[in-house]
Amino acid sequence: MANFVPAAKLSDLEATDRLLVEVDDRIVALFKVGGEIFCIDDVCTHDGGPLSDGKLDDHTIACPRHGAKFDIRTGKALTMPATVDTAAHDVKIEGDTIFVRICEAGKAAQVANPTTAGPIAATVLKASGAAEPAAGAAGDGTRSVPATMNLSEDLVREELKKVIDPELFVNIVDLGLIYNVDLVPQDDGKTNVKIDMTMTSPMCPAGPQLIANSKQVISQLPPVGNVEVKIVLDPPWTPDKMTDEARDQLGIF
Ligand code: FES
Repeated sequence: MANFVPAAKLSDLEATDRLLVEVDDRIVALFKVGGEIFCIDDVCTHDGGPLSDGKLDDHTIACPRHGAKFDIRTGKALTMPATVDTAAHDVKIEGDTIFVRICEAGKAAQVANPTTAGPIAATVLKASGAAEPAAGAAGDGTRSVPATMNLSEDLVREELKKVIDPELFVNIVDLGLIYNVDLVPQDDGKTNVKIDMTMTSPMCPAGPQLIANSKQVISQLPPVGNVEVKIVLDPPWTPDKMTDEARDQLGIF
């Protein structure tokens, strides 16, 4: 079973009712309801919608894409079109620190007995939803990329390696899905990032999830402004676009 890891500060949730964080290389959403904290995957099981962008009503979050509802306490899918539960994760609070233990879907989340905290392994990505971002949610030193690192195409591609195709279990860069990365400096000092991404097939069901996850990992890079991911199907993806690393992982020689 995974360990509890520090995921965020309670104070990060003072000005907002939800927060996106990365725990054990997984993007999860923290929600605060009635003084309690709950944690579920940020992915709608219907078609990959970002649940942290949905409307929260008591303990029910509605997917912003097609309206499926989930219970944030258990991850249970409550309404169509979702029929599969999303994963709910264990949460515990110690002092001002919120700890999360990653659980798999179908396992009810719980507040566990205190355990020894491991090294800081979680990254606050952003406060999400209608409320303003929480103080310290960005640029507070908890990012995985130092604020002083220069933004470059190479850095964007390196970060995109954190996005894993859920069917092939290979990152999208080594799969050859990233056709182009453009950096567009803005007057406010930020840089917009435009990514051309393809799919291994036009009907790839993982597409929305790959787009959402790509936006999430790049949005946390300083000083990124808007992140746009455009799906490009011409030229179509072919296996020869994979790197040798991807071929090794897939056992293709
Ligand atoms: S993606 Fe969430 S309801 Fe369709």
